[in-house]
Amino acid sequence: MEKGGRVAALSLLLSAMLSPGVCVSIPLKIDPIVYEEQLLWVAGFQGEVNTYRVPLITFTPKGNLLAFAEGRKDNDDDAGAKFIALRRSTNKGDTWSPTTFIVDDGTQSDGLNLGSVVVDEEVGLVILIYTTCFHQFQCQISSIMMVESKDDGLSWSVPRNLSAQLGVKNFAPGPGSGLQKRYSPAKGRLVVCGHGTIEGDGVFCILSDDHGRNWYNGAELKSIPYNQKKYNQDFNPDEPQPVELTDGTIVINVRNQYHYHCWCRVVVRSYDGGITLPTDDLYFDSELVDSAVAAGALQKDGVIYFTNPANMHNRVNLTLRWSMTNGNSWEKKAVQIWAGPSSYSSITSLDGSSPEDQKYIFVIYEKGHQAPYETISFAKIHLYGGH
Ligand SMILES: *[C@@H]1O[C@H](CO)[C@@H](O)[C@H](O)[C@H]1NC(C)=O
Ligand SMILES: *[C@@H]1O[C@H](CO)[C@@H](O)[C@H](O)[C@H]1NC(C)=O
Repeated sequence: MEKGGRVAALSLLLSAMLSPGVCVSIPLKIDPIVYEEQLLWVAGFQGEVNTYRVPLITFTPKGNLLAFAEGRKDNDDDAGAKFIALRRSTNKGDTWSPTTFIVDDGTQSDGLNLGSVVVDEEVGLVILIYTTCFHQFQCQISSIMMVESKDDGLSWSVPRNLSAQLGVKNFAPGPGSGLQKRYSPAKGRLVVCGHGTIEGDGVFCILSDDHGRNWYNGAELKSIPYNQKKYNQDFNPDEPQPVELTDGTIVINVRNQYHYHCWCRVVVRSYDGGITLPTDDLYFDSELVDSAVAAGALQKDGVIYFTNPANMHNRVNLTLRWSMTNGNSWEKKAVQIWAGPSSYSSITSLDGSSPEDQKYIFVIYEKGHQAPYETISFAKIHLYGGH
């Protein structure tokens, strides 16, 4: 698979005959449209699930798509017993397998929460990391758990408890995608970022240099005041979404839980593969207006894509933005995917070298008419206006 160095605006070329025998390539302009959309999960006690929440989407080593969500059994609370629900598509999102539950936490009072999915392309593994007892509601110890698939998402290992390696701590991975470093430094490293509980909140990354066998604690960006009760406008970096730039920098787009400085996103970078997150380069992206919610981000062919409910006060207006400058500025045009209630989102793409794979990104998000948690929707976005 060919990866580095391609730049989208240049890579998808339209050949134009200007005069006989002279062929000039003109770059197609990014002009995204929602190409097709379908609901993957619907709330309301279909089977054993009350509400599906926290959708994740990923590509697989073999070029398929996997969609995950929490299947909350009894109600829509963050605590409570849950399944991890999975659907799989082998035709670029046109059709999806029936739902399977790959993890079942039984009847726990504070069961599992998703989660971060990361693909190790070097060995062909899909890894899903989640947490249990995160809120310590009628339970004592929060654990960081991992399942993996060696066959492109068809079958899954039994859960493994990573707290033995990482120490017992409250760590909620994602929600969204982790990444495998494609560029140096630390090419091949798995990087999964998440956040702590409100008092001990902040962005924390866990790292693996051996394909998920051993994990260790990496970068931290702690809240202020750390390990203390928070008030409005305290600095409280929460749910993060990392992407890797083509120069090897990791850029993390972060939920700004208590609206420190702005009602907008926090951005922080790591230049050493997720070991540190220097605050010298932290900034607030005032263009990315946000009510404090999990967002989606992706780097594809040198372009950064970002989805969130773009509204200061409410979880509505799920919007796709894109940046030709590594997120330093955003194109004026934005695409509204859904005007109504909408909340968490996640983005992926297939990275094959086929022209088909260069044209699409895939967004999964919480979508509703009265409230954002009525359905989980999958949107296939054509990046070039359908051309
Ligand atoms: C996970 O491991 C930690 C540390 O050994 C332990 O305290 C915790 O009980 C384990 N959690 C589960 C769910 O087994
Ligand atoms: C939706 O997002 C767009 C792009 O940021 C913005 O211009 C518009 O005002 C937003 N609408 C609402 C209702 O939030």
